[in-house]
Amino acid sequence: MFTWEFASDPYPAYAWLREHAPVHRTALPSGVEAWLVTRYTEARQALADARLSKNPVHHSESAHGKGKVGIPGERSANLMTHLLNIDPPDHTRLRRLVSKAFTPRRVAEFAPRVQELTDHLIDGFAGRGEADLIHEFAFPLPIYAICDLLGVPREDQDDFRDWAGMMIRHGGGPRGGVARSVKKMRGYLAELIHRKRETLEGTPAPDEDLISGLIRASDHGEHLTENEVAAMAFILLFAGFETTVNLIGNGTYQLLRHPAQRELLQKSLAAGDTELLTTGVEELLRFDGPVELATWRFATEELTLGGQRIAEGDPVLVVLAAADRDPARFPDPDLLDLTRRDNQHLGYGHGIHYCLGAPLARLEGQTALATLLTRLPDIRLAVEPAELRWRGGLIMRGLRSLPVEFTSER
Ligand code: HEM
Repeated sequence: MFTWEFASDPYPAYAWLREHAPVHRTALPSGVEAWLVTRYTEARQALADARLSKNPVHHSESAHGKGKVGIPGERSANLMTHLLNIDPPDHTRLRRLVSKAFTPRRVAEFAPRVQELTDHLIDGFAGRGEADLIHEFAFPLPIYAICDLLGVPREDQDDFRDWAGMMIRHGGGPRGGVARSVKKMRGYLAELIHRKRETLEGTPAPDEDLISGLIRASDHGEHLTENEVAAMAFILLFAGFETTVNLIGNGTYQLLRHPAQRELLQKSLAAGDTELLTTGVEELLRFDGPVELATWRFATEELTLGGQRIAEGDPVLVVLAAADRDPARFPDPDLLDLTRRDNQHLGYGHGIHYCLGAPLARLEGQTALATLLTRLPDIRLAVEPAELRWRGGLIMRGLRSLPVEFTSER
């Protein structure tokens, strides 16, 4: 499991696990042993279970398993105190503070910028009749969007593009380059935050960007420390980048493979209707979501899940991609149905760690797919599906490249 060959179609294996071993202990490629949870009911239960901690100190192997769980480089770079590594009450406090700055309203106000970025990227290849949608579209869009939202100056954004590129190319692979990129990003963010804090001091002006908003956010007189702001900015970049690349990549790929569904969507977009776009992006997340497994959880005490005894310190991985194809929850789960309404998928997780960036991800996904299908209406795959290569990591699943053809825009 978790090789690229497996990543090209993991669903039959997940169906087998759901049926025969829904809570299954296995050795991961790193050598760490973990429980895989593949049925919807147990997956949802595990995501909301307070006995399953996000803090790697609870891992039974944390002493000698050091560096095997978590994001490469984050440990040394002092970025550990972010939302995905902590439990209440620290999590509650940090999440409340960040939620004050990262509001649905801020995201909604950002919509024109996402549209502008999307059009600008499509302008880059629309006259050429062919493109690699991962490199030229799905990859740059989220990184520029998050940089803009955070308040990273435009002239520095290409550095982020390079660092993020290193992470995405080597995610799950050699750690050295990734750790170096994390370190550079961390250094840059620390300096940027420091500069912004100095200029903000004493100015009553409204928050102009998310980092300024995070610096200013206060809760009962409490503020985030500079290090907490840095860890927060970092996790927003990290959690919001590859996920969105894969939403756009996997989503476009599935639409190109399901012509009737794609035609339905194109008709409704042409009629100015956005309802199918909304339900459709949710369905694409359920059907072929970017996050294969939710991030690590560790049992703080012995517990039973799906009839299995999980010992204190054991890692638990909830396989979102398997739960979201569970026939016990979704009728015809292997059918892509953009009109599906009863669609409480786990693609954004569940419980207190539910994706903070979901409104931004939805905005980017909907804008990207709608604009692509509207501007390049006859877009099609330029290679056979079997020729496509998938990036098989542990947490994420997405295409390495997506070559397409279309009639050039004049
Ligand atoms: C958490 C998925 C985009 C920020 C999560 C979790 C999932 C997820 C499954 C929960 C992980 C767990 O419980 O172990 C996705 C998907 C996205 C996406 C599928 C795109 C399609 C974004 C974006 C941002 C973001 C754009 C921000 C810019 C976060 C943060 C958390 C999180 C900060 C941690 C929340 C917490 O622990 O309280 N996401 N995400 N995500 N996501 Fe997203």
